[in-house]
Amino acid sequence: MTPDIFFVATIAVAAGVAAGIPAGLLLKRNSPTISRGSVRIDASTVCGRGAFADRAIREGEIIERCPALEVTDKDVGGELLNYVFYGSEENLRLVAMGYGMLFNHSPKPNVAYYREDSKLGAELVLYALRDIRKGEELFYNYGDDWWSTRK
Ligand SMILES: C[S@@+](CC[C@H](N)C(=O)[O-])C[C@H]1O[C@@H](n2cnc3c(N)ncnc32)[C@H](O)[C@@H]1O
Repeated sequence: MTPDIFFVATIAVAAGVAAGIPAGLLLKRNSPTISRGSVRIDASTVCGRGAFADRAIREGEIIERCPALEVTDKDVGGELLNYVFYGSEENLRLVAMGYGMLFNHSPKPNVAYYREDSKLGAELVLYALRDIRKGEELFYNYGDDWWSTRK
């Protein structure tokens, strides 16, 4: 009895793996982008990856609430510096988790953000400055200071 069950279980696992690998490859090929909520990450129109509206977004609508971690500037260096926000004091930086980290800059942004301190901790809240069409890239303004402090 036991060897039969073992045999059936082995066949079932082997069949699952055999079917799962091609299915996974097929799905990956058909889904080159990653979506969550109203945002998808795709090749940017300005640089590397960027965030795009995955559906129409209304002016004022909250696009993403990113849980954020406030750390000192000593905790952040190198390339990571280009991905963090200013914190509540000059020597603090806000690490926003989620897609909020991947929005590119525009001097004519369609998105802005504010910080909110909830019971659970800091959050970076991104919202639409105007109606945004599905497929538009999402930008906020990094600010003059951001660019002047980098080459
Ligand atoms: C927070 S990241 C944005 C995501 C980034 N494009 C990526 O692929 O990971 C910030 C970096 O994106 C690039 N970037 C953002 N906005 C840009 C723009 N308008 N023109 C050129 N590069 C930009 C700069 O290299 C900057 O250091």
